[in-house]
Amino acid sequence: MHDIVLIPGDGIGPEITNAVTTIFDKVNAPIKWIRCSAGLSAHEEQGDPLPDDTLEAIDNYRTVLKGPLTTPVGAGFRSVNVALRKKFKLYSNIRPAKTLPYIKSRFDDVDLVMFRENTEGLYIGKEQWIKEDSHAESIAVVTREASQKIIRSAFEYAKKKNRNKITLVHKANILKFTCGLFMEVGEEIAEEYPNIEYEDLIVDNMAMQMVMRPEQFDVIVTTNLFGDILSDLASGLVGGLGLTGAANIGDDAAMFEAVHGSAPDIAGENKANPIAFLLSSLMLLEHVGEEKLADRIRQAIFYTLKDKSVCTPDIGGHGSTTSFTEAVCNYL
Ligand code: NAI
Ligand code: MG
Repeated sequence: MHDIVLIPGDGIGPEITNAVTTIFDKVNAPIKWIRCSAGLSAHEEQGDPLPDDTLEAIDNYRTVLKGPLTTPVGAGFRSVNVALRKKFKLYSNIRPAKTLPYIKSRFDDVDLVMFRENTEGLYIGKEQWIKEDSHAESIAVVTREASQKIIRSAFEYAKKKNRNKITLVHKANILKFTCGLFMEVGEEIAEEYPNIEYEDLIVDNMAMQMVMRPEQFDVIVTTNLFGDILSDLASGLVGGLGLTGAANIGDDAAMFEAVHGSAPDIAGENKANPIAFLLSSLMLLEHVGEEKLADRIRQAIFYTLKDKSVCTPDIGGHGSTTSFTEAVCNYL
């Protein structure tokens, strides 16, 4: 039995969480959910978007499945997602993008995994006005240690999953120190993995290549800002953010989440597509060593995509969150 912290989240969070728990119950998944709250709902109910008992549970159990959390724009509170990534040192953000059967997209053979450095780069929040209203500056940080961690985790993943190629993405021609260091670390680590092909590409060229011929890429590793942008691009190659899962992994904690937000416009209407969150929960199963069970559920999801009468409207279906969930359960 694996103890997993479950944060249903805001907006459509509870509905897509219900899809996951229903399907996991159906196959008697060896998971014990420790339910906790965070986000806007926790803020409203307990006066804290990240309550102490939630933090304690994560500290204790170390593996989390987290629904989307609403972050108010402007005043309110700072992003709980960012706080969790920082606190538990979840340095690697992993987003697979794979063509799904029966889903319309521009390509039919995309199968890549993006590793994005999640803790530094241009996203450390060190910004300042040099002259109010006319001159702002932002600082980027790249360290050897964080670069080693993310690049090594990409190589280890490739080795474990029998993937053949790593593409490191940078802009070292212009950002000679920060991206230069990231690239230097990449070259050093690549030498330790002679069986994995290694290349590096400059980010603008990469963006063009991904849109022209995405099938040439396998595992991609890059810094925070580039990874943020390219991972959404990768989701777009296979049908959008509603269809890709994500993991945030550190040395001693892991958090799995959907990449989309809380979709307040459709919350409570039984229209939310649970696929992205389901794929994240399958990454969680794999993480705790339940690969076979993950494969079994994945097959059931793929099979269910064939029947548009049970799929949600965002992917051209005529069904609902619950009809899709029931159909997956029936297939299982
Ligand atoms: P969003 O992803 O919630 O919604 C964008 C559009 O996509 C909406 O039209 C929505 O209905 C649709 N959509 C999203 N997920 C869907 C699903 N599973 N099935 C069907 N349609 C879906 O992005 P938005 O509107 O920018 O953000 C809403 C809230 O979510 C904000 O408070 C934002 O801060 C938060 N957010 C949280 C994230 C997280 O917890 N990881 C990530 C992104 C946004
Ligand atoms: Mg993003």
